[in-house]
Amino acid sequence: MNTFLSVLLLHSLFAMPALSCNQSCFCKKYKTLKLRSTFRGQYKNVLQEQKGALISNKNQIGFAGNQFNRSPLRSELYDVNTGKGYTTSIIGKFVIIDLPQIYEINTIKFWVYDRDVTLRTFDLKVYVQNSQSLVQLVYEDTVATSIKKIKFSDTFVKQILIYDNNGSSVNQYLHILNLQAYFEF
Ligand SMILES: *[C@@H]1O[C@H](CO)[C@@H](O)[C@H](O)[C@H]1NC(C)=O
Ligand SMILES: *[C@@H]1O[C@H](CO)[C@@H](O)[C@H](O)[C@H]1NC(C)=O
Repeated sequence: MNTFLSVLLLHSLFAMPALSCNQSCFCKKYKTLKLRSTFRGQYKNVLQEQKGALISNKNQIGFAGNQFNRSPLRSELYDVNTGKGYTTSIIGKFVIIDLPQIYEINTIKFWVYDRDVTLRTFDLKVYVQNSQSLVQLVYEDTVATSIKKIKFSDTFVKQILIYDNNGSSVNQYLHILNLQAYFEF
């Protein structure tokens, strides 16, 4: 083997102390916490395009605007008016978001269209699909408005589904501006 390479290899071996978690209670705890934090998306919003979340049934949904303001999984939230910045789904249809991995979460936040003079109310349901592929209802409201935070028990989730149950006080459409999901203590 190339001498330089073997020296490098030796060096990296010595530089890495062979920490055994058998011996250290602290080390074990640290490893567990680190793993838990990974499953919980580092306690940040896991519904972000840059992190790999995607709307798997995009063909059943309308997107008003351009690539910078039409996705509910974007970080830039405030570029919204009557013609852009939201999704459109019809009664009986879902917005289905696939997560890039299974995450343990207990909070979902949604923001629905709220740019009318009189606040528009939406009849909608929110479901999560857990790691055993079981779909659970976590929220339903016939008069949901603007920004809503949903709390539910800690769940390992692989999919989030938003259902247009009966449109809004204005028409048959569900318009979502933004979606977030995370683990909250
Ligand atoms: C860890 O503990 C197990 C069981 O107590 C033992 O068999 C094993 O040799 C230990 N490993 C290290 C690296 O200390
Ligand atoms: C759905 O919405 C329409 C129009 O607002 C209303 O007339 C109807 O009663 C609603 N249906 C249900 C099942 O809530």
